[in-house]
Amino acid sequence: MAVLEVSGLTKRYPGVTALDGVDLEVQPGEVHVLIGENGAGKSTMVRCLSGIEPPDAGTMTLHGQPYQPASAADGLKAGIRVVHQELALLPNLSVAENLFLHRLPRRAGVVDRATLDRAARELLTEVGLDLSPRTPVERLGIAQMQLVEIAKALSGQCRLLIMDEPTATLTPKETGRLFEILRRLTETGVAVIYISHHLEEIFEIGDRVTVLRNGKHIDTRDVTSLTTAELVRSMVGRDLAHEFPPVRARPQGDELLRVTNLRVTPAAPPLSLTVRAGEVVGVAGLVNSGRTEAMRAIFGADRAATGRIELRGRPIRLRHPRTAVQAGMSFLTEDRKAQGLVLDLPIAANMSLASLPAISRFGLLNRAAEAAAATALAQKLRVASRGVRQHVRALSGGNQQKVVLGRWLAADTDLLIVDEPTRGIDVGARYEIHQLLLDLADAGKGLLVVSSDLPELLGICDRIIVFSRGAIAGEVPRAEFDAERVLNLAYSGYLKGVSA
Ligand SMILES: Nc1ncnc2c1ncn2[C@@H]1O[C@H](COP(=O)(O)OP(=O)(O)OP(=O)(O)O)[C@@H](O)[C@H]1O
Ligand SMILES: [Mg+2]
Repeated sequence: MAVLEVSGLTKRYPGVTALDGVDLEVQPGEVHVLIGENGAGKSTMVRCLSGIEPPDAGTMTLHGQPYQPASAADGLKAGIRVVHQELALLPNLSVAENLFLHRLPRRAGVVDRATLDRAARELLTEVGLDLSPRTPVERLGIAQMQLVEIAKALSGQCRLLIMDEPTATLTPKETGRLFEILRRLTETGVAVIYISHHLEEIFEIGDRVTVLRNGKHIDTRDVTSLTTAELVRSMVGRDLAHEFPPVRARPQGDELLRVTNLRVTPAAPPLSLTVRAGEVVGVAGLVNSGRTEAMRAIFGADRAATGRIELRGRPIRLRHPRTAVQAGMSFLTEDRKAQGLVLDLPIAANMSLASLPAISRFGLLNRAAEAAAATALAQKLRVASRGVRQHVRALSGGNQQKVVLGRWLAADTDLLIVDEPTRGIDVGARYEIHQLLLDLADAGKGLLVVSSDLPELLGICDRIIVFSRGAIAGEVPRAEFDAERVLNLAYSGYLKGVSA
């Protein structure tokens, strides 16, 4: 008997039918992958299944019984566990408290710390997290938070596990570990609904795949009967001839950025690098290899840093991001939440926050110019919305990311630093974002692109700088691009002293 059967599921929001009569059936022990472009309706489906939002029409059955959850608590009771796309941990509470929020072990009425710590430690070990259960969640990095969310979903009895882009912030190693856990669970008959924009993951972990487009069910197939090209076509409704836009030869511009002996902390190794105008420089390395910290320091977001930063030959004092922006730098950080999307403002206003001087005249904001600029950008980025007056809150996760990215692309600064620019972005829009980055380089801007997606760096960069253990381990020019060479450099710092 199927674990879950969904028939004619329909969900409407003002102006958009997010789910339009969707059927879905999931068998015990199956990993059923749900894919579709940003805004296709995947997370809406998750919200209906988990009881967070009621559908407008359609029926659901769980193990043959009618299933009509009135709240997320009903979903939990029915044995459904969910890892949502947006992390929902309570930052002030400890890891252990977050893991067992609704069922803290008690003895004589007070929370039993010892039992709680022990149970929490077990779950953390399972997902490969080596940290004290008493650590406050606010001290964790995004990848660690994601692993805590996953650990939370694994606690207690579960019959249907739903994961909405769980690997977006994980390293390949952490992803591998997650897949092992999923395999173990499915062997015991647990059914899994798995959402991801990483197509290679679908082939690795999926049994069947269901494609959604504009809220409609397009196809359900065995993974083994599919090719990547077919998958992409049914997802975006057109062929994508190339994975990456062609990289045109660009004239070597003048030196734009020069970083000399930058130290993130007094004991850290000194970092030196340059970026020319019109150059796309990739920044590779394992997570925690110091890439993000170095970028933050270049941008002046890290006050402890020392060293020399010059933009067009002029020294910039490492004081404050505002100084960096005034000097002509912008920075899209990997933590999109912290970039301050204002959820209850329209798309247009959110996109223009970084470029206000360009669109205001005599100190007044020119609304028409703002809307026109935002509309053009939103079209290029394929933001699925009813127009740029729509509030950001009503956008899907991936489309919210496009708005943040759009803001920095609109800022029009000489040097743009982007950290994980296409995380959570669907394949079609990825191509457009790569094209936009290359267009900026064509226009003479310098780009530093940090990415954990090595094919992405090899696809669009002129040169790749590789970080390893806080230091720059080497640099590879486009003519010598080779995935293995980059990976060897990325691991090199960690291998020292291991051999012999
Ligand atoms: N609260 C809301 N109010 C209005 N519209 C909404 C709301 N939530 C979602 N939508 C709309 O429903 C549609 C489906 O969104 P959903 O979040 O399900 O997409 P998704 O497939 O998960 O996309 P992504 O890959 O970006 O996460 C989108 O057009 C979105 O704008
Ligand atoms: Mg989503």
